[in-house]
Amino acid sequence: MTVKRVLTSVAVAAALGVGVALADQPFQTEIEARQGQFKLLAFNLGPLVGMARGDIEYDAATAQAAADNIAAIASLQQDRLWPAGSDTDSVSGTRALPEIWDDTDDVMAKFEALREAALAMQQAAGTGLDGVRGQLRTLGSACSTCHDAYREPQ
Ligand code: HEC
Repeated sequence: MTVKRVLTSVAVAAALGVGVALADQPFQTEIEARQGQFKLLAFNLGPLVGMARGDIEYDAATAQAAADNIAAIASLQQDRLWPAGSDTDSVSGTRALPEIWDDTDDVMAKFEALREAALAMQQAAGTGLDGVRGQLRTLGSACSTCHDAYREPQ
């Protein structure tokens, strides 16, 4: 490829919003993508927590939609989001601790626990406030168990 064609394809990729890895910041695309999935998890957990606490009124459709989204996000295949060398010791802009790559089986088991808790919430969320409350502890602890082990504290 000529330099001009390379530049053109980079421009096209940028215009499409396709991440192009920048040499000075490796794995930026992967890091932003995985942080994006966690943001979406937290965004959808919000209404369930609000209802459980009584801050917002229980609404079956809203609870079900939030739980459906969490179940979908928790089922995403993770492999490409966690390239070796994208930890806090190697790059900036991440809170992913290097321990993740020391024991990937354990990390994936924690993702599986999240998925199972999300599927249980998906069954319960539309049935009533008790259903949301009943599953929230398991779901919330699936998040915090992994954060305690593998996310750098702020
Ligand atoms: C298997 C491990 C694991 C599970 C389960 C998990 N997280 Fe995380 N989470 C992480 C790691 C690691 C990071 C840091 C990612 C990074 O900065 O590259 C993170 C980052 C985040 C962030 C910050 C994202 C940002 O903007 O940088 C939020 C919010 C978050 N998680 C919410 C949640 C919620 C809510 C759940 C449960 C519904 C959850 N996480 C489940 C490991 C996990």
